[in-house]
Amino acid sequence: MNLVVVSNRVSRGKANEPMTGGLAAALLPVVEKSGAIWVGSSGRVRDGSQKEPFAEIEALGAGALAMLDLPAAHYGGYYEGFANSALWPALHSRSDLIRASQEDYLSYREVNAFMARALLRFQKPDSAFWVQDYHFLALGAELRDLGVTQPLGFFLHTPWPARAVIEGVPHHRELIEAMLAYDLIGFQTGDDCENFLDYLQSELALEVADGCVASRFGTTRVAVFPIGIDPEKFAQQAAKALSHPDVSRLRRSLHGEKLAIGVDRLDYSKGLINRINAFDRMWTTQPQLARTVSLLQIATPSRGAIEAYGNLQNELAKLVSDVNGRHGEADWTPIRYLNKGFSQTVLAGLYRTAQVGVVTPLHDGMNLVAKEYVAAQNPDDPGVLVLSKFAGAANELDTALLVNPNDIDGMARTIAIALSMPLMERCMRWEAMMEKLHASTIQGWFADFVDALQQSQSDPCGPEPLLAEPPAPWPLRSVNSGVRYH
Ligand code: G6P
Repeated sequence: MNLVVVSNRVSRGKANEPMTGGLAAALLPVVEKSGAIWVGSSGRVRDGSQKEPFAEIEALGAGALAMLDLPAAHYGGYYEGFANSALWPALHSRSDLIRASQEDYLSYREVNAFMARALLRFQKPDSAFWVQDYHFLALGAELRDLGVTQPLGFFLHTPWPARAVIEGVPHHRELIEAMLAYDLIGFQTGDDCENFLDYLQSELALEVADGCVASRFGTTRVAVFPIGIDPEKFAQQAAKALSHPDVSRLRRSLHGEKLAIGVDRLDYSKGLINRINAFDRMWTTQPQLARTVSLLQIATPSRGAIEAYGNLQNELAKLVSDVNGRHGEADWTPIRYLNKGFSQTVLAGLYRTAQVGVVTPLHDGMNLVAKEYVAAQNPDDPGVLVLSKFAGAANELDTALLVNPNDIDGMARTIAIALSMPLMERCMRWEAMMEKLHASTIQGWFADFVDALQQSQSDPCGPEPLLAEPPAPWPLRSVNSGVRYH
Protein backbone atom coordinates (compact mmCIF):
# COMPACT_ATOMS: atom_id res chain seq x y z
CA MET A 1 0.00 0.00 0.00
CA ASN A 2 1.15 3.52 -0.84
CA LEU A 3 0.06 5.73 2.01
CA VAL A 4 -0.62 9.43 1.45
CA VAL A 5 -1.02 11.39 4.71
CA VAL A 6 -2.61 14.83 4.49
CA SER A 7 -2.70 17.59 7.10
CA ASN A 8 -2.79 21.36 7.05
CA ARG A 9 0.42 21.87 8.98
CA VAL A 10 3.37 19.58 8.30
CA SER A 11 6.66 19.34 10.12
CA ARG A 12 10.18 18.95 8.81
CA GLY A 13 11.02 19.27 12.50
CA LYS A 14 14.45 18.51 13.71
CA ALA A 15 14.70 17.74 17.43
CA ASN A 16 16.29 21.17 17.84
CA GLU A 17 13.63 23.22 16.08
CA PRO A 18 10.60 24.68 17.86
CA MET A 19 7.36 22.79 17.30
CA THR A 20 3.86 24.21 17.34
CA GLY A 21 0.89 22.03 18.06
CA GLY A 22 0.61 18.38 18.85
CA LEU A 23 -0.45 17.06 15.48
CA ALA A 24 2.57 17.77 13.29
CA ALA A 25 5.03 16.90 16.06
CA ALA A 26 3.27 13.62 16.79
CA LEU A 27 3.04 12.54 13.17
CA LEU A 28 6.63 13.29 12.20
CA PRO A 29 8.43 10.24 13.64
CA VAL A 30 5.84 7.73 12.45
CA VAL A 31 5.33 9.16 8.98
CA GLU A 32 9.11 9.33 8.60
CA LYS A 33 9.47 5.60 9.28
CA SER A 34 6.44 4.46 7.29
CA GLY A 35 7.60 5.54 3.86
CA ALA A 36 4.38 7.53 3.36
CA ILE A 37 4.07 10.76 1.42
CA TRP A 38 3.00 13.54 3.76
CA VAL A 39 1.21 16.40 2.03
CA GLY A 40 0.29 19.73 3.62
CA SER A 41 0.49 23.48 3.41
CA SER A 42 3.86 25.19 2.86
CA GLY A 43 2.56 28.12 4.90
CA ARG A 44 2.88 30.24 1.74
CA VAL A 45 0.17 31.26 -0.68
CA ARG A 46 0.15 32.01 -4.40
CA ASP A 47 -2.40 33.33 -6.82
CA GLY A 48 -4.51 30.97 -8.86
CA SER A 49 -3.04 31.77 -12.27
CA GLN A 50 -0.81 28.65 -12.28
CA LYS A 51 -2.49 25.49 -13.54
CA GLU A 52 -0.52 23.08 -11.38
CA PRO A 53 -0.48 23.61 -7.61
CA PHE A 54 3.08 24.39 -6.62
CA ALA A 55 4.59 21.74 -4.39
CA GLU A 56 7.99 21.65 -2.82
CA ILE A 57 8.95 18.01 -2.32
CA GLU A 58 11.74 16.75 -0.12
CA ALA A 59 12.78 13.40 1.28
CA LEU A 60 11.37 12.45 4.67
CA GLY A 61 12.86 9.25 6.05
CA ALA A 62 11.78 6.43 3.76
CA GLY A 63 9.09 8.63 2.18
CA ALA A 64 8.59 12.24 1.18
CA LEU A 65 7.20 15.53 2.37
CA ALA A 66 5.22 17.64 -0.11
CA MET A 67 4.40 21.22 0.84
CA LEU A 68 1.83 23.05 -1.24
CA ASP A 69 1.30 26.76 -1.70
CA LEU A 70 -2.42 27.25 -1.06
CA PRO A 71 -4.56 29.66 -3.14
CA ALA A 72 -4.03 33.24 -1.94
CA ALA A 73 -7.64 34.30 -2.55
CA HIS A 74 -9.00 31.62 -0.23
CA TYR A 75 -6.35 31.00 2.38
CA GLY A 76 -7.59 33.56 4.94
CA GLY A 77 -11.23 32.49 4.63
CA TYR A 78 -10.16 28.86 4.95
CA TYR A 79 -7.59 28.99 7.76
CA GLU A 80 -8.37 32.02 9.93
CA GLY A 81 -11.98 31.95 8.79
CA PHE A 82 -13.97 28.76 8.62
CA ALA A 83 -11.41 26.30 10.06
CA ASN A 84 -10.30 28.33 13.06
CA SER A 85 -13.18 30.76 13.68
CA ALA A 86 -16.12 28.42 13.07
CA LEU A 87 -15.01 24.79 13.35
CA TRP A 88 -12.34 25.08 16.06
CA PRO A 89 -14.55 26.91 18.59
CA ALA A 90 -17.49 24.58 17.86
CA LEU A 91 -15.35 21.46 18.21
CA HIS A 92 -14.18 22.78 21.60
CA SER A 93 -17.76 23.58 22.66
CA ARG A 94 -17.25 27.37 22.52
CA SER A 95 -20.41 28.27 20.61
CA ASP A 96 -20.01 31.86 21.82
CA LEU A 97 -16.84 32.24 19.73
CA ILE A 98 -18.21 30.86 16.45
CA ARG A 99 -17.80 33.44 13.66
CA ALA A 100 -18.68 32.31 10.17
CA SER A 101 -19.41 34.07 6.92
CA GLN A 102 -20.63 32.58 3.69
CA GLU A 103 -17.37 33.67 1.98
CA ASP A 104 -15.31 31.84 4.60
CA TYR A 105 -17.29 28.68 4.05
CA LEU A 106 -16.83 28.92 0.28
CA SER A 107 -13.09 29.47 0.75
CA TYR A 108 -12.93 26.42 3.01
CA ARG A 109 -14.62 24.32 0.35
CA GLU A 110 -12.35 25.79 -2.36
CA VAL A 111 -9.20 24.87 -0.43
CA ASN A 112 -10.54 21.34 0.19
CA ALA A 113 -11.22 21.01 -3.55
CA PHE A 114 -7.78 22.45 -4.37
CA MET A 115 -6.10 19.94 -2.06
CA ALA A 116 -8.05 17.09 -3.67
CA ARG A 117 -6.81 18.11 -7.14
CA ALA A 118 -3.26 18.43 -5.82
CA LEU A 119 -3.39 14.93 -4.32
CA LEU A 120 -4.09 13.31 -7.69
CA ARG A 121 -0.44 13.58 -8.61
CA PHE A 122 0.47 11.34 -5.67
CA GLN A 123 -2.21 8.75 -6.46
CA LYS A 124 -1.17 5.20 -7.38
CA PRO A 125 -3.41 2.16 -7.93
CA ASP A 126 -2.60 0.86 -4.44
CA SER A 127 -2.76 4.23 -2.66
CA ALA A 128 -4.72 4.92 0.50
CA PHE A 129 -5.31 8.47 1.74
CA TRP A 130 -5.29 9.36 5.40
CA VAL A 131 -6.58 12.88 6.07
CA GLN A 132 -5.93 14.62 9.40
CA ASP A 133 -8.08 17.05 11.29
CA TYR A 134 -10.87 19.58 10.91
CA HIS A 135 -9.24 21.60 8.13
CA PHE A 136 -10.25 18.92 5.63
CA LEU A 137 -13.67 17.58 6.59
CA ALA A 138 -14.82 17.72 2.95
CA LEU A 139 -11.62 16.52 1.29
CA GLY A 140 -12.81 12.92 1.04
CA ALA A 141 -15.95 13.94 -0.84
CA GLU A 142 -13.87 16.10 -3.20
CA LEU A 143 -11.58 13.14 -3.92
CA ARG A 144 -14.56 10.90 -4.66
CA ASP A 145 -15.93 13.59 -7.03
CA LEU A 146 -12.63 13.40 -8.91
CA GLY A 147 -13.10 9.66 -9.33
CA VAL A 148 -10.76 8.44 -6.59
CA THR A 149 -11.89 4.97 -5.46
CA GLN A 150 -9.06 4.02 -3.11
CA PRO A 151 -9.52 3.79 0.69
CA LEU A 152 -10.02 7.16 2.38
CA GLY A 153 -9.48 7.61 6.10
CA PHE A 154 -9.97 10.60 8.38
CA PHE A 155 -8.78 11.22 11.93
CA LEU A 156 -9.98 14.09 14.11
CA HIS A 157 -7.39 15.32 16.60
CA THR A 158 -9.86 17.58 18.44
CA PRO A 159 -12.96 16.63 20.44
CA TRP A 160 -16.31 16.19 18.67
CA PRO A 161 -18.97 18.11 20.62
CA ALA A 162 -22.60 17.46 21.52
CA ARG A 163 -25.11 17.68 18.68
CA ALA A 164 -26.56 21.06 19.69
CA VAL A 165 -23.09 22.63 19.54
CA ILE A 166 -22.06 21.36 16.10
CA GLU A 167 -25.45 22.46 14.84
CA GLY A 168 -24.26 26.01 15.56
CA VAL A 169 -21.85 25.75 12.62
CA PRO A 170 -23.39 27.03 9.38
CA HIS A 171 -23.58 24.30 6.72
CA HIS A 172 -23.07 21.57 9.33
CA ARG A 173 -25.36 19.18 7.46
CA GLU A 174 -23.60 19.53 4.15
CA LEU A 175 -20.19 19.14 5.78
CA ILE A 176 -21.01 16.11 7.88
CA GLU A 177 -22.73 14.40 4.98
CA ALA A 178 -19.54 15.03 2.99
CA MET A 179 -17.52 13.37 5.77
CA LEU A 180 -19.29 10.11 4.99
CA ALA A 181 -17.19 9.85 1.83
CA TYR A 182 -14.45 8.58 4.15
CA ASP A 183 -14.37 4.81 4.57
CA LEU A 184 -12.98 5.14 8.08
CA ILE A 185 -13.39 7.99 10.59
CA GLY A 186 -11.33 7.94 13.78
CA PHE A 187 -11.83 9.85 17.02
CA GLN A 188 -9.72 10.27 20.16
CA THR A 189 -12.29 9.09 22.71
CA GLY A 190 -15.50 7.09 23.06
CA ASP A 191 -17.39 10.31 23.95
CA ASP A 192 -16.34 12.00 20.69
CA CYS A 193 -17.37 8.94 18.75
CA GLU A 194 -20.76 8.74 20.46
CA ASN A 195 -21.46 12.45 19.88
CA PHE A 196 -20.74 12.00 16.19
CA LEU A 197 -22.92 8.90 15.87
CA ASP A 198 -25.69 10.68 17.75
CA TYR A 199 -25.59 13.47 15.14
CA LEU A 200 -25.77 10.97 12.28
CA GLN A 201 -28.76 9.26 13.83
CA SER A 202 -30.68 12.27 15.07
CA GLU A 203 -29.91 14.92 12.50
CA LEU A 204 -29.27 12.88 9.35
CA ALA A 205 -31.66 10.06 10.28
CA LEU A 206 -29.03 7.48 9.36
CA GLU A 207 -28.91 4.04 10.85
CA VAL A 208 -25.82 3.11 12.76
CA ALA A 209 -25.05 -0.55 13.35
CA ASP A 210 -21.88 -1.78 14.99
CA GLY A 211 -20.19 1.60 14.46
CA CYS A 212 -20.93 1.44 10.72
CA VAL A 213 -23.17 3.73 8.76
CA ALA A 214 -24.41 3.52 5.17
CA SER A 215 -24.71 6.63 3.00
CA ARG A 216 -24.77 7.49 -0.70
CA PHE A 217 -20.97 7.04 -0.67
CA GLY A 218 -21.07 3.47 0.69
CA THR A 219 -20.21 2.32 4.20
CA THR A 220 -18.28 4.39 6.72
CA ARG A 221 -16.82 2.87 9.83
CA VAL A 222 -16.51 5.09 12.90
CA ALA A 223 -14.05 4.05 15.61
CA VAL A 224 -11.83 5.21 18.48
CA PHE A 225 -8.04 5.41 18.13
CA PRO A 226 -6.50 7.29 21.08
CA ILE A 227 -3.23 8.88 19.93
CA GLY A 228 -0.06 8.20 21.95
CA ILE A 229 3.61 9.12 22.11
CA ASP A 230 6.89 7.18 22.02
CA PRO A 231 7.48 7.06 25.79
CA GLU A 232 10.90 5.41 25.63
CA LYS A 233 12.28 7.89 23.17
CA PHE A 234 10.89 10.79 25.14
CA ALA A 235 12.32 9.48 28.41
CA GLN A 236 15.79 9.16 26.87
CA GLN A 237 15.54 12.61 25.36
CA ALA A 238 14.54 14.06 28.76
CA ALA A 239 17.41 12.41 30.64
CA LYS A 240 19.90 13.67 28.06
CA ALA A 241 18.40 17.14 27.93
CA LEU A 242 19.30 17.86 31.56
CA SER A 243 22.74 18.93 30.36
CA HIS A 244 21.32 21.21 27.65
CA PRO A 245 22.41 24.79 28.45
CA ASP A 246 18.81 26.15 28.48
CA VAL A 247 17.77 23.45 30.95
CA SER A 248 20.78 23.70 33.23
CA ARG A 249 20.43 27.50 33.37
CA LEU A 250 16.80 27.07 34.45
CA ARG A 251 17.79 24.59 37.17
CA ARG A 252 20.47 26.92 38.50
CA SER A 253 18.02 29.81 38.58
CA LEU A 254 15.64 27.93 40.87
CA HIS A 255 17.95 27.92 43.94
CA GLY A 256 16.24 24.83 45.33
CA GLU A 257 12.74 26.21 44.82
CA LYS A 258 10.11 23.87 43.28
CA LEU A 259 8.82 24.36 39.76
CA ALA A 260 5.42 23.79 38.18
CA ILE A 261 5.27 23.83 34.38
CA GLY A 262 2.56 24.50 31.79
CA VAL A 263 3.23 24.26 28.05
CA ASP A 264 0.45 25.18 25.65
CA ARG A 265 -0.39 26.93 22.45
CA LEU A 266 -1.90 30.28 23.36
CA ASP A 267 -5.46 29.07 22.80
CA TYR A 268 -8.72 29.65 24.69
CA SER A 269 -9.35 25.91 24.86
CA LYS A 270 -6.28 25.45 27.07
CA GLY A 271 -7.78 27.02 30.21
CA LEU A 272 -4.81 29.35 30.74
CA ILE A 273 -6.72 32.11 32.52
CA ASN A 274 -8.24 29.62 34.97
CA ARG A 275 -4.82 28.09 35.59
CA ILE A 276 -3.19 31.43 36.44
CA ASN A 277 -6.17 32.24 38.67
CA ALA A 278 -5.66 28.92 40.47
CA PHE A 279 -2.00 29.75 41.20
CA ASP A 280 -3.07 33.20 42.36
CA ARG A 281 -5.60 31.57 44.70
CA MET A 282 -3.00 29.11 45.98
CA TRP A 283 -0.48 31.81 46.89
CA THR A 284 -3.26 33.88 48.49
CA THR A 285 -4.76 31.12 50.61
CA GLN A 286 -1.46 29.41 51.42
CA PRO A 287 1.03 32.27 51.67
CA GLN A 288 3.67 29.92 53.08
CA LEU A 289 3.99 28.56 49.51
CA ALA A 290 5.31 31.89 48.21
CA ARG A 291 9.01 31.56 47.34
CA THR A 292 8.77 27.76 47.59
CA VAL A 293 7.27 27.21 44.14
CA SER A 294 7.06 29.17 40.91
CA LEU A 295 5.21 28.48 37.68
CA LEU A 296 6.93 28.36 34.29
CA GLN A 297 4.17 28.95 31.76
CA ILE A 298 5.12 28.64 28.11
CA ALA A 299 2.29 29.94 25.91
CA THR A 300 3.30 29.75 22.26
CA PRO A 301 1.42 32.30 20.15
CA SER A 302 -0.82 30.81 17.50
CA ARG A 303 -3.44 32.09 15.04
CA GLY A 304 -2.68 35.63 16.18
CA ALA A 305 -4.68 37.28 13.37
CA ILE A 306 -7.93 35.97 14.88
CA GLU A 307 -9.57 38.39 17.31
CA ALA A 308 -10.30 35.82 20.02
CA TYR A 309 -6.60 34.87 20.12
CA GLY A 310 -5.40 38.48 20.25
CA ASN A 311 -7.84 39.20 23.09
CA LEU A 312 -6.66 36.17 25.02
CA GLN A 313 -3.02 37.14 24.63
CA ASN A 314 -3.74 40.62 26.05
CA GLU A 315 -5.89 39.31 28.88
CA LEU A 316 -3.33 36.71 29.86
CA ALA A 317 -0.40 39.15 29.79
CA LYS A 318 -2.32 41.50 32.07
CA LEU A 319 -3.36 38.74 34.46
CA VAL A 320 0.19 37.35 34.77
CA SER A 321 1.51 40.83 35.43
CA ASP A 322 -1.17 41.47 38.11
CA VAL A 323 -0.40 38.18 39.85
CA ASN A 324 3.34 38.78 39.73
CA GLY A 325 2.82 42.31 41.00
CA ARG A 326 0.73 41.08 43.92
CA HIS A 327 2.75 38.07 45.07
CA GLY A 328 6.26 38.83 43.77
CA GLU A 329 9.27 40.06 45.73
CA ALA A 330 12.35 41.98 44.62
CA ASP A 331 14.18 38.68 44.32
CA TRP A 332 11.27 36.33 43.46
CA THR A 333 8.99 36.15 40.40
CA PRO A 334 6.03 33.79 40.92
CA ILE A 335 5.21 33.24 37.23
CA ARG A 336 7.80 33.04 34.48
CA TYR A 337 5.72 33.66 31.40
CA LEU A 338 7.11 33.08 27.90
CA ASN A 339 5.47 33.64 24.51
CA LYS A 340 7.71 31.49 22.35
CA GLY A 341 8.18 27.93 21.19
CA PHE A 342 10.85 25.44 22.30
CA SER A 343 12.35 22.38 20.67
CA GLN A 344 11.17 18.98 21.85
CA THR A 345 14.60 18.31 23.32
CA VAL A 346 14.52 21.39 25.54
CA LEU A 347 10.88 20.78 26.48
CA ALA A 348 11.72 17.25 27.58
CA GLY A 349 14.41 18.64 29.90
CA LEU A 350 12.06 21.34 31.26
CA TYR A 351 9.38 18.73 32.01
CA ARG A 352 11.90 16.63 33.91
CA THR A 353 12.98 19.64 35.93
CA ALA A 354 9.43 20.46 37.08
CA GLN A 355 7.94 18.74 40.16
CA VAL A 356 4.42 19.43 38.90
CA GLY A 357 3.01 19.41 35.35
CA VAL A 358 -0.20 21.44 34.98
CA VAL A 359 -2.29 20.44 31.96
CA THR A 360 -5.71 21.95 32.57
CA PRO A 361 -7.55 22.57 29.28
CA LEU A 362 -11.26 23.37 29.31
CA HIS A 363 -11.55 20.83 26.52
CA ASP A 364 -8.91 18.98 24.52
CA GLY A 365 -8.91 16.13 22.01
CA MET A 366 -6.05 14.27 23.70
CA ASN A 367 -3.30 16.66 24.88
CA LEU A 368 0.06 15.08 24.26
CA VAL A 369 1.84 17.47 26.65
CA ALA A 370 0.26 15.46 29.48
CA LYS A 371 1.75 12.24 28.10
CA GLU A 372 5.13 13.84 27.41
CA TYR A 373 5.34 15.29 30.93
CA VAL A 374 4.83 11.80 32.38
CA ALA A 375 7.34 10.13 30.05
CA ALA A 376 9.98 12.76 30.85
CA GLN A 377 10.05 12.10 34.61
CA ASN A 378 12.93 10.65 36.57
CA PRO A 379 11.69 7.15 37.63
CA ASP A 380 13.41 7.54 41.03
CA ASP A 381 11.82 10.89 41.81
CA PRO A 382 8.87 11.50 39.47
CA GLY A 383 6.83 14.69 39.35
CA VAL A 384 3.05 14.87 39.66
CA LEU A 385 0.67 15.52 36.78
CA VAL A 386 -2.33 17.77 37.49
CA LEU A 387 -4.67 17.01 34.60
CA SER A 388 -8.03 18.34 33.48
CA LYS A 389 -10.72 15.69 33.37
CA PHE A 390 -11.81 17.29 30.07
CA ALA A 391 -8.62 16.35 28.23
CA GLY A 392 -8.85 13.12 26.20
CA ALA A 393 -5.67 11.98 28.00
CA ALA A 394 -7.62 11.73 31.28
CA ASN A 395 -9.26 8.51 30.00
CA GLU A 396 -5.90 6.79 30.18
CA LEU A 397 -3.94 8.86 32.73
CA ASP A 398 -6.49 8.40 35.49
CA THR A 399 -3.85 8.18 38.22
CA ALA A 400 -2.91 11.79 37.59
CA LEU A 401 -4.53 14.29 39.97
CA LEU A 402 -7.65 15.00 37.93
CA VAL A 403 -9.20 18.47 38.21
CA ASN A 404 -12.15 20.44 36.94
CA PRO A 405 -10.53 23.50 35.30
CA ASN A 406 -13.58 25.63 36.12
CA ASP A 407 -13.14 25.01 39.85
CA ILE A 408 -10.39 27.49 40.72
CA ASP A 409 -10.36 26.67 44.45
CA GLY A 410 -10.24 22.95 43.73
CA MET A 411 -7.31 23.43 41.33
CA ALA A 412 -5.46 25.61 43.85
CA ARG A 413 -5.83 22.92 46.51
CA THR A 414 -4.82 20.14 44.11
CA ILE A 415 -1.65 21.93 42.99
CA ALA A 416 -0.66 22.33 46.65
CA ILE A 417 -1.33 18.61 47.24
CA ALA A 418 0.83 17.76 44.22
CA LEU A 419 3.68 19.85 45.62
CA SER A 420 3.77 17.95 48.90
CA MET A 421 3.00 14.44 47.66
CA PRO A 422 5.24 11.77 49.28
CA LEU A 423 7.70 9.93 47.05
CA MET A 424 5.95 6.57 47.36
CA GLU A 425 2.61 7.90 46.14
CA ARG A 426 4.29 9.81 43.32
CA CYS A 427 6.03 6.62 42.18
CA MET A 428 2.85 4.55 42.29
CA ARG A 429 0.86 7.05 40.29
CA TRP A 430 3.67 7.56 37.79
CA GLU A 431 4.26 3.84 37.23
CA ALA A 432 0.56 3.27 36.53
CA MET A 433 0.61 6.08 33.96
CA MET A 434 3.78 4.79 32.31
CA GLU A 435 2.10 1.43 31.86
CA LYS A 436 -0.71 3.13 29.97
CA LEU A 437 1.74 5.06 27.81
CA HIS A 438 3.56 1.85 26.88
CA ALA A 439 0.29 0.11 26.04
CA SER A 440 -0.81 2.85 23.65
CA THR A 441 2.12 4.28 21.70
CA ILE A 442 2.13 6.51 18.64
CA GLN A 443 3.48 3.57 16.63
CA GLY A 444 0.52 1.42 17.74
CA TRP A 445 -1.93 4.21 16.90
CA PHE A 446 -0.50 4.61 13.42
CA ALA A 447 -0.41 0.89 12.70
CA ASP A 448 -3.95 0.29 14.04
CA PHE A 449 -5.42 3.05 11.91
CA VAL A 450 -3.56 2.01 8.77
CA ASP A 451 -4.62 -1.64 9.27
CA ALA A 452 -8.24 -0.61 9.70
CA LEU A 453 -7.99 1.67 6.66
CA GLN A 454 -6.55 -1.13 4.58
CA GLN A 455 -9.47 -3.40 5.35
CA SER A 456 -12.07 -0.62 5.31
CA GLN A 457 -13.38 -1.38 1.84
CA SER A 458 -13.23 -5.16 1.88
CA ASP A 459 -14.47 -5.68 5.42
CA PRO A 460 -15.70 -2.30 6.66
CA CYS A 461 -17.14 -3.43 9.95
CA GLY A 462 -14.41 -5.87 10.87
CA PRO A 463 -14.91 -9.42 11.98
CA GLU A 464 -16.43 -8.54 15.35
CA PRO A 465 -19.51 -6.51 16.22
CA LEU A 466 -18.51 -2.95 17.09
CA LEU A 467 -20.19 -0.65 19.61
CA ALA A 468 -22.97 -3.22 19.85
CA GLU A 469 -23.17 -2.90 23.62
CA PRO A 470 -23.49 0.37 25.57
CA PRO A 471 -20.15 2.15 25.79
CA ALA A 472 -17.97 0.45 28.34
CA PRO A 473 -16.84 2.47 31.35
CA TRP A 474 -13.14 3.12 31.75
CA PRO A 475 -10.83 1.18 31.85
CA LEU A 476 -12.52 -0.96 29.20
CA ARG A 477 -12.71 2.06 26.95
CA SER A 478 -9.01 2.82 26.99
CA VAL A 479 -5.85 1.39 25.54
CA ASN A 480 -6.43 -2.34 25.40
CA SER A 481 -10.11 -2.12 24.82
CA GLY A 482 -9.45 0.49 22.13
CA VAL A 483 -9.01 -2.55 19.93
CA ARG A 484 -12.63 -3.48 20.52
CA TYR A 485 -13.74 -0.19 19.07
CA HIS A 486 -11.62 -0.39 15.95
C1 G6P B 1 -4.04 21.56 17.06
C2 G6P B 1 -4.75 21.08 15.83
C3 G6P B 1 -3.78 20.90 14.70
C4 G6P B 1 -3.00 22.17 14.48
C5 G6P B 1 -2.30 22.57 15.77
C6 G6P B 1 -1.54 23.88 15.66
O1 G6P B 1 -3.20 20.58 17.56
O2 G6P B 1 -5.45 19.89 16.09
O3 G6P B 1 -4.45 20.56 13.51
O4 G6P B 1 -2.04 22.03 13.46
O5 G6P B 1 -3.28 22.73 16.77
O6 G6P B 1 -2.38 24.89 15.17
P1 G6P B 1 -2.00 25.73 13.90
O7 G6P B 1 -3.25 26.49 13.55
O8 G6P B 1 -0.89 26.62 14.37
O9 G6P B 1 -1.57 24.77 12.84
